[in-house]
Amino acid sequence: MNSYLNIDHVGITFPTDNGPLNVLDNVNLKVEQGEFISLIGHSGCGKSTVLNIVAGLLQATEGGVLLENREVREPGPDRAVVFQNHSLLPWLSVYDNVRLAVDQVFKRTKSKAERDEWTRHNLELVHMSHALDRKPDEISGGMKQRVGIARALAMEPKVLLMDEPFGALDSLTRTHMQDSLMEIQAELNNTVIMITHDVDEAVLLSDRIIMMTNGPSASIGEILQVELERPRDRLSLAEDRDYNHYRAEVVRFLHERHVGKRPQTAAETATDAGAGQDETQGAQEKQGLRLAV
Ligand SMILES: Nc1ncnc2c1ncn2[C@@H]1O[C@H](COP(=O)(O)OP(=O)(O)OP(=O)(O)O)[C@@H](O)[C@H]1O
Ligand SMILES: [Mg+2]
Repeated sequence: MNSYLNIDHVGITFPTDNGPLNVLDNVNLKVEQGEFISLIGHSGCGKSTVLNIVAGLLQATEGGVLLENREVREPGPDRAVVFQNHSLLPWLSVYDNVRLAVDQVFKRTKSKAERDEWTRHNLELVHMSHALDRKPDEISGGMKQRVGIARALAMEPKVLLMDEPFGALDSLTRTHMQDSLMEIQAELNNTVIMITHDVDEAVLLSDRIIMMTNGPSASIGEILQVELERPRDRLSLAEDRDYNHYRAEVVRFLHERHVGKRPQTAAETATDAGAGQDETQGAQEKQGLRLAV
């Protein structure tokens, strides 16, 4: 079958001091163009490894990745990556960090004036136009993250790969970034694969949530199709029966897979399913909603 992005029977084994370590085994996923996919699973199961294989930064030991029927063998501008620790060049301004990527991708196809306009447009999308001349160490963590996202979007990647992009942000900034990402994705119809430890984030943003089994030899455990209408509004969804059902499904999966964790009591399950939107990270960790890394 011709799907847009095909993660086809991917397995990877790393050599380690204690012998070969099989991290992923038979990971199969077909992603359609414009789909928003979240990867969720316990720390160390292999989520970043999947993302790095799709990015072309790691080579699968078995199987492979096809993007529009072409095998992914190396990194390329058609697959932009946003890492959790935003990787801006510290000596360049906000504008120049994005402009550098724009120049690399559009050197031949856009004029200088067009590249300038395109750089500004993408920074506008993430509400960073007011700080074009600042250096990375003169802006906050959330702002750096927004610049990283602008840089990735400006490359017009076929696939946007994000590894816990909002994990380090305070909850207000995180909320803002999630809403911006939903708006941008609705406008541009990017295909997105995002790793998250945040159950609410996964349900709010995704078309499908891929829940990975624990490693070693991790694979896809369950896939949850999130059929909530878009645009999605977090406030009205907090009361929504379907939203809370999806949320509880993910929480259940994670609890069941939590190695060494005692079975949940009915009361705990009820607490998880009914938990509000404004919990602190610490409270979420206690309930297993946000996984401690
Ligand atoms: N280059 C490598 N060599 C050996 N082992 C590796 C290598 N890269 C990753 N691993 C191992 O593969 C497993 C999966 O790592 P990965 O970073 O993909 O997990 P993750 O699901 O992203 O975890 P987290 O949620 O903590 O970010 C871990 O056990 C890790 O130690
Ligand atoms: Mg990771």
